[in-house]
Amino acid sequence: MENKELVAKALSNALDNELSVEDIESKLERPKDSKMGDIAFPTFILAKKFRKAPQQIAGDIIEKIDQSDFDHVEAAGPYVNFFLDKSAFSENVLNSILDQKEQYGQNDDGKGGNVTIDMSSPNIAKPISMGHLRSTVIGNSVAEILRKNGYKPIKDNHLGDWGTQFGKLITAYLMWGNEEDVKKDPINNLVKYYVKFHKVDKEQPELDDVARDWFRKLENGDEKALKLWKWFRKVSIEAFEKIYNKLGVTFDTYNGEAFYNDKLQGVVDSLNEKGLLSKSQGATIVDLDKYNLNPALILKSDGASLYITRDIATAIYRDQTYHPAMNLYVVGSEQTYYFKQLKAVLMEMGVPSAKDLHHVPFGLITVNGKKLSTRSGRIILLDEVLNDSIDIAKKQIAQKNPDLPNKEEVAKEVGVGAIVFGDLKNEKINNIDFNLEDQLRFEGETGPYVQYAHARAESILRKAGDVDFTNVAKKLNDAESWNVVKLLNDFPARVRMACDEFEPSVIAKYSLRLAKAFNKYYAHTKILEDNDEKDARLALVKSVSIVLKESLRLLGVKAPDQM
Ligand code: ARG
Repeated sequence: MENKELVAKALSNALDNELSVEDIESKLERPKDSKMGDIAFPTFILAKKFRKAPQQIAGDIIEKIDQSDFDHVEAAGPYVNFFLDKSAFSENVLNSILDQKEQYGQNDDGKGGNVTIDMSSPNIAKPISMGHLRSTVIGNSVAEILRKNGYKPIKDNHLGDWGTQFGKLITAYLMWGNEEDVKKDPINNLVKYYVKFHKVDKEQPELDDVARDWFRKLENGDEKALKLWKWFRKVSIEAFEKIYNKLGVTFDTYNGEAFYNDKLQGVVDSLNEKGLLSKSQGATIVDLDKYNLNPALILKSDGASLYITRDIATAIYRDQTYHPAMNLYVVGSEQTYYFKQLKAVLMEMGVPSAKDLHHVPFGLITVNGKKLSTRSGRIILLDEVLNDSIDIAKKQIAQKNPDLPNKEEVAKEVGVGAIVFGDLKNEKINNIDFNLEDQLRFEGETGPYVQYAHARAESILRKAGDVDFTNVAKKLNDAESWNVVKLLNDFPARVRMACDEFEPSVIAKYSLRLAKAFNKYYAHTKILEDNDEKDARLALVKSVSIVLKESLRLLGVKAPDQM
């Protein structure tokens, strides 16, 4: 039985079932200071009902409550504080972890429902930015967290592979482009042409007409235009995949914006049938007054579709294909207003899953104080950031553990893990400034710190050799192991919370707390000393290793056994 349930049952009995177990359970608190017990019940919520002072209610409960399942129970002012029976509790927690292994914390809340996750979604012919990195790593982690909660995530990379900018790019390429250069370094060269277009076009505005013409040709399936577009798309995806591979992120589908081209007319027709379209200065719009939002622009006056037109088609396609329980869009907070409009249009259209559309926004990221942008040409390439991080990790490993056998691989896992963790430990809505050296320190709130705690646990287990994990944990009742056990017990609740809030930082922060508690335990305890408690201590170490590794996995971070 969960501890909160145990406490709630005892309380409900003591209160002559005046309050249900569920009701009580929802009111229970976990005191910050362990002197106040492990679980506390605030009695002031009953003061009105019982017409008594909270202190007195607490006293009455102590008189009546059956304490046999607990170490002891105390009244403290308006609280009843429960001190759990440490050995029984520890045995319970460790046994469930050792039994369930990486399944520990898994639940079935999602009942196998599909959840589409729109994530990463960089734009063709532009470098993948740190913003896209955030979407990639947050989306990937949210997917694993959803899976752990019984959902079936579907990760879709909604590539920005359509729009008037491709008319500009084709124009620029035909004027200044070179096939060999693009083959050698696709993204940088394509960006170069694009940036040059914007510069030259200031003096030669007629270039805009040429570009518009090329986009029209592309839309009409002109062979030359289509061939170039396909090629730009292909080399861009190849470049993105290098980064995805490094991050260890995969997608279920790569349905970019262009995938929906043949579905746009259907969207317009359906909006029309539902009487949702109106004209405004030549353009076709959906009025969203009743949502207190600006109108959604569906077609420009020249009939061209827009970003939102393609997103409406996308949402309808996902709705019909997956019948999703939820639709998530992991996209920066600068698009918050846009997603409100999108949801409103879909609600008006009566798309069934529209009410379960969630924009999962996140803040800006800068690297060592530098902003990222592609237009101005000031670009920090994500690939470079990852490589720098791996290099720093390599140097650290060379210093700390020069004899490590698979140095290269571990440096990659630590270097990449540091970036991913450094991103995910922040509540996603916060802006973050990334300092590489800081994220790579083995001390402090970093990925390597958690990885190192896991590797340390594994190293103890290697030294211990074969351990019998049956009949463990009876004798763990010192303060340090108690702290660790309580945190281990907390993991399933954190898994649920991270899912409810689409918030990987819940897991990242949890893993930091667990790593810290374990390091403290390690510093205070002779784990391998030969005595009666040795097996119990090793069971604790094994459990920590399992839960740290699983926490990191939920974040998309590897946990090397040695580092
Ligand atoms: N490509 C867009 C960008 O880089 C993000 C697309 C987000 N997804 C969507 N369905 N609108 O800003």
